[in-house]
Amino acid sequence: MREYDYIIVGSGIAGLYDALLAQELGSVLILTKGSIDECNTKHAQGGIAVAISSLDSPELHFRDTMAAGAGLCDPEAVHILTEEGADRIADLVKFGVPFDTVEGEIALTMEAAHSIPRILHAGGDATGEHIEVTLSNAARSSRSITILEHCLATDMLVRDGGVYGVAALDLRSGSVEEFGCRFLIVATGGMGRLFKISTNPDIATGDGIALAYEAGAEIADMEFFQFHPTALRLPGVPLFLISEAVRGEGGVLRNASGERFMLNYTPEGDLAPRDIVARSIVAEMKKTGTDRVYLDVTPLPARIVSARFPQIYRFCQAHGLDITSSMIPVVPAAHYMMGGIRTNYWGETNIAGLFASGEVACTGVHGANRLASNSLLEVLVFGKRIVERSKGEADTARIAERGAFALKERDTGTRSFPSLSLTALQSLLWDNVGIMRSGERLEEAATALAAWEKDLKTPTDRPSYELANMVLVGRLMAEAALMREESRGAHFRSDFPASSDAWLRHIVFRKTV
Ligand code: FAD
Ligand code: SIN
Repeated sequence: MREYDYIIVGSGIAGLYDALLAQELGSVLILTKGSIDECNTKHAQGGIAVAISSLDSPELHFRDTMAAGAGLCDPEAVHILTEEGADRIADLVKFGVPFDTVEGEIALTMEAAHSIPRILHAGGDATGEHIEVTLSNAARSSRSITILEHCLATDMLVRDGGVYGVAALDLRSGSVEEFGCRFLIVATGGMGRLFKISTNPDIATGDGIALAYEAGAEIADMEFFQFHPTALRLPGVPLFLISEAVRGEGGVLRNASGERFMLNYTPEGDLAPRDIVARSIVAEMKKTGTDRVYLDVTPLPARIVSARFPQIYRFCQAHGLDITSSMIPVVPAAHYMMGGIRTNYWGETNIAGLFASGEVACTGVHGANRLASNSLLEVLVFGKRIVERSKGEADTARIAERGAFALKERDTGTRSFPSLSLTALQSLLWDNVGIMRSGERLEEAATALAAWEKDLKTPTDRPSYELANMVLVGRLMAEAALMREESRGAHFRSDFPASSDAWLRHIVFRKTV
């Protein structure tokens, strides 16, 4: 068995940043299932939220984050995020990420539910690409970091409550190899591909959560999945995010008749929290009998639009839409997983030696709804803490004792469901576990997923492993959403439209292994 001090699964910002810090302490292996830059990170547009302006403070950022999280953020985790954020941004600058500046000062933009402009960006709307390229170049040139691309992690190796390695399928040779380590950092990102309409690239299939659940890790807040309000909807064109920063810079939403409608739904208007804007758009489309609304930047100076949002401008232009003169057709789309592998403030899980980093983790920072551009910051702040923690003894005290549920057997009866395929799964999740949920639709989804789970064949290749993982994490999501009989943050149930104090708690799953 090849042995490393650290094995990191994933090569987005979480995997790369953690690897660059960990290389100071020992040998590092990065396993990644595609090429190094296939990840959500590369697609990040808006930027990174951090309190660095003279008008801002960690306390104000704390308050905005807590408000967005709708009662379920962990205040200590949010304090850590907002207070340690500026130092971590300085690390990124040292690595060479070229944040945009105005007259020598870092440029800051506005996004929904932030009290003031505090979002740093790079290349206008190409923040993620700059981060990914900078960090992957640094990782490639390190002699302490080995990178294995096209290598799919399939199992975590656990013994006596501790992790000792990972099994992976080499997607080129078809061989399976076990790798040994002292610390396993799961940095596999989110699960947006569970839904038919999604801003996420193909890699976002929830693998890390599925593997960790199978290994006995605690999985929390699975019902809280964020839908972004504005993804480009043009016939025959792949879905493409239109950043919230576009509204932050003055873009406004209009319905098919060209009327502004957001103030009819909320006094915060176009810059209300994401969950509210996404639901308002769904309601407006229903009311007007259309399948899209429009984002209008035509009143803004054309030169400013193309310079500030070069990626969006060029993408739309390449598909025949000049956004400086025509409105942008948009719909809500699946975007970000708030829940995941439950960690303490040091990224540790309930399994000794197993850490979770980035979107796959549930650190407690986001609660029921993530504040825009807080995820890249979370990766940096808690990634640093993971590597710091690996210098000392493991401490799983905060997370080991909480009550957790195991997925129960579900009676799938004699009902027939469509046969399992990626398309069938994505449609089921979008229709039944999406922006608007109800007990009846969730029950149907959970039962279909349980039936599919029973019929799964032993996976042999990337698509079959991913599909099996998606069935499992989809079921965790549907079951959690069914249990939470209220509406809160991104989780909305038409049969329980109000929030309830009785539900000011987290739903945690753990398999009895
Ligand atoms: P990722 O970047 O997704 O990386 C996951 C890695 O794990 C990939 O390399 C993948 O191939 C690998 N992997 C997965 N499963 C396996 C497996 N089984 N074996 C081996 N490798 C595996 N957040 C912000 O804060 N600001 C923004 O402006 C912003 N904009 C966004 C725009 C878009 C379009 C999207 C989709 C997200 C955006 N987000 C933004 C969210 C943010 O980009 C992500 O949360 C963040 O990049 C996640 O980083 P990560 O390293 O955890 O995961
Ligand atoms: C965006 O640019 O709108 C995405 C920001 C985020 O997901 O935080």
